[in-house]
Amino acid sequence: MAETNLDARFPWAARLSPERLKSPWWIGHIPFAFELVARLRPGTLVELGTYSGSSFAAFCQAVRACGLDTRCYGVDLWEGDVHMGTFDEELFREVSQYMSDTYPGIATLVRKDFDEASRDFADGSVDLLHIDGTHTYEAVGNDFRTWLPKMSRRGVILFHDTNVTVQNAGEAALRFGVRRLFDEVKGRYPHLEFGHCWGLGVLVTGSEAPPEVLELVAAAQDPAFAAHFAAKGQAVSERFEAMGIPLPVHGTYPGSGSLAARAANRLRRLARRLLGGASPA
Ligand SMILES: C[S@@+](CC[C@H](N)C(=O)[O-])C[C@H]1O[C@@H](n2cnc3c(N)ncnc32)[C@H](O)[C@@H]1O
Repeated sequence: MAETNLDARFPWAARLSPERLKSPWWIGHIPFAFELVARLRPGTLVELGTYSGSSFAAFCQAVRACGLDTRCYGVDLWEGDVHMGTFDEELFREVSQYMSDTYPGIATLVRKDFDEASRDFADGSVDLLHIDGTHTYEAVGNDFRTWLPKMSRRGVILFHDTNVTVQNAGEAALRFGVRRLFDEVKGRYPHLEFGHCWGLGVLVTGSEAPPEVLELVAAAQDPAFAAHFAAKGQAVSERFEAMGIPLPVHGTYPGSGSLAARAANRLRRLARRLLGGASPA
């Protein structure tokens, strides 16, 4: 595949420029996200782990640019996790304001635990699922098993962080189990994978996925495919770097073993519900 042909072959990756870049960890996959949404034309898209919204906004941007009537749901407790630390309430306020201002009628934020949110979606109803929550083997396995029945016959699942290693991330990588989980399940479905920007696994779980999506899987056999999307992603990452946005710093996460922390989180959730979505200080 000659480089000049690839922009013509994957036009949405070349055509759109990301509107929201808030953190560096996912944004190298935005060009592929644009291309995938344009080809899959999902009716329902769910993201598990929205945080400050870089990936979620990219999906919403593609939906609008392609003129689709996709409903996009960004699920997150906006409390933090073992990898990210504990979030300040301002994070949720800012992202929810941005999404309602920028993507009304497209974006809905769901402030729930992933398991709890799964009960809001009918079996067979989700066309595109992005799993980007807690990245331990146990958590990502639970997300996959819980949401797999929700996937439609056209379904595609994305897994972020398939390429977090001790070499590229140091000791923190020891907590990441996405690589192991993806290796366990990928043989059951057509799939492809990117190594850049901490890795993205793409699993075509639906038995009736559009040919345009299966064409991506076939194209990925050629190393020029991954190189093309890595170069596109690198350009996004360089743009982000030039913006000079400092890396977000969050509080220490108390740890899943802390009973006091879990009780405090439960109380915060209950208070939010009682206050009708508003958050206690
Ligand atoms: C890596 S961040 C997501 C990054 C985001 N996709 C982006 O583009 O920047 C993971 C998010 O998942 C959320 N999270 C982790 N486990 C969760 C769970 N079980 N239920 C709800 N949210 C969870 C965290 O609060 C955090 O915001």
